[in-house]
Amino acid sequence: MAIIEIKNLKKTYSNGHYAIKGIDISIKEGEFVVLVGPSGCGKSTLLRMIAGLEDISDGDLYFNDKRMNEVHPKDRNIAMVFQNYALYPHMTVYDNMAFGLKLKKMPKADIHQRVTAAATTLGLTEYLDRLPKEMSGGQRQRVAIGRAIVRQPDVFLFDEPLSNLDAKLRVQMRSEIKRLHRHLKNTMVYVTHDQIEAMAMGDKIVILKDGVVQQTDTPVNVFYHPENKFVAGFIGSPAMNFVSGKIVKEDELYFVNEGMKISVPPPLRVSMEKYLGKSVDMGFRPEYVYDKGLEKERRLSTDVEIEIQLVENVGSESYNHFTLHGMDTIFSYRSSSSNSHIPGEKVTVGIDLERLHFFDPETEKTIL
Ligand SMILES: Nc1ncnc2c1ncn2[C@@H]1O[C@H](COP(=O)(O)OP(=O)(O)O)[C@@H](O)[C@H]1O
Ligand SMILES: [Mg+2]
Repeated sequence: MAIIEIKNLKKTYSNGHYAIKGIDISIKEGEFVVLVGPSGCGKSTLLRMIAGLEDISDGDLYFNDKRMNEVHPKDRNIAMVFQNYALYPHMTVYDNMAFGLKLKKMPKADIHQRVTAAATTLGLTEYLDRLPKEMSGGQRQRVAIGRAIVRQPDVFLFDEPLSNLDAKLRVQMRSEIKRLHRHLKNTMVYVTHDQIEAMAMGDKIVILKDGVVQQTDTPVNVFYHPENKFVAGFIGSPAMNFVSGKIVKEDELYFVNEGMKISVPPPLRVSMEKYLGKSVDMGFRPEYVYDKGLEKERRLSTDVEIEIQLVENVGSESYNHFTLHGMDTIFSYRSSSSNSHIPGEKVTVGIDLERLHFFDPETEKTIL
């Protein structure tokens, strides 16, 4: 049974802005679901509708089969953690965590038990007497999470909780939140614009664009089986390369343009027949381009001649940015930094034929 069922949910703001355009999501008990998408796509709006902080214009929201559309936020048994922590500056860490429970008139001893337990889980025990301004960003965010934990909610909602932290701390905190999820086993809905964070954290990822769900799937599936060009380009770093070309038939079916001629992989031949003589877009990830001769295990495309424009060395590997004959676009591929290239170098590469993605240029949907 889904603990949260979102059915054809819509939101139009009072100024007429149509922010959420009919969204369906099922969230299971104990699931860690990440809502991800570019800034302005409606992530916070949707999360706030789940929390009850934003009115629902149309559609239904259910928690455990109970319709929640008109239920007051405080009666939804959810706890929300925000990007800006929203701690009370004049209260100690202890009081910040205890405040909500005091408002509920919970007995002091119970409050103490919950706050100390949360402090232990989050490694905050020695900071309970401090004020927020005496804590680092990461510690403050932990207090904000602690304040959510002590309420023992059914559902945790996180809105970009790590965006104010530096890169290293962000990586550390995201594994702490995952560890917390394993420990508490609550349902968690986590919003981020960062696709790497989404991939690292989600049991399930919901990719949003302009108030519309583009794909709901596991991290592995959104990477290997994107349903459209937007998802293909949004997930993965460096991003997927896209080229336009035509489908032609010679001895077999080929995708061709000025810079490459690639045989259409057998599983796609039937559906690609329909595009014979027409344009399609092709996507290939930087991970699946290989220097000819170096990769023997894979079924590679016919040779593609490229010219290296720029090389970024990021440690064990290099990102090689290149052009294809006759095209202005810059593409990229990853190689081991022990096999580094230099700008201006001409290199022969092959693309893994099992890792090609084709898209209908009009609908931008993946051709299956
Ligand atoms: N109170 C509001 N009134 C009108 N438009 C809003 C309001 N809040 C957000 N929006 C608009 O709705 C869209 C979605 O916003 P938001 O949910 O905050 O996006 P995200 O969290 O994905 O960055 C944006 O275009 C934003 O400008
Ligand atoms: Mg937001």
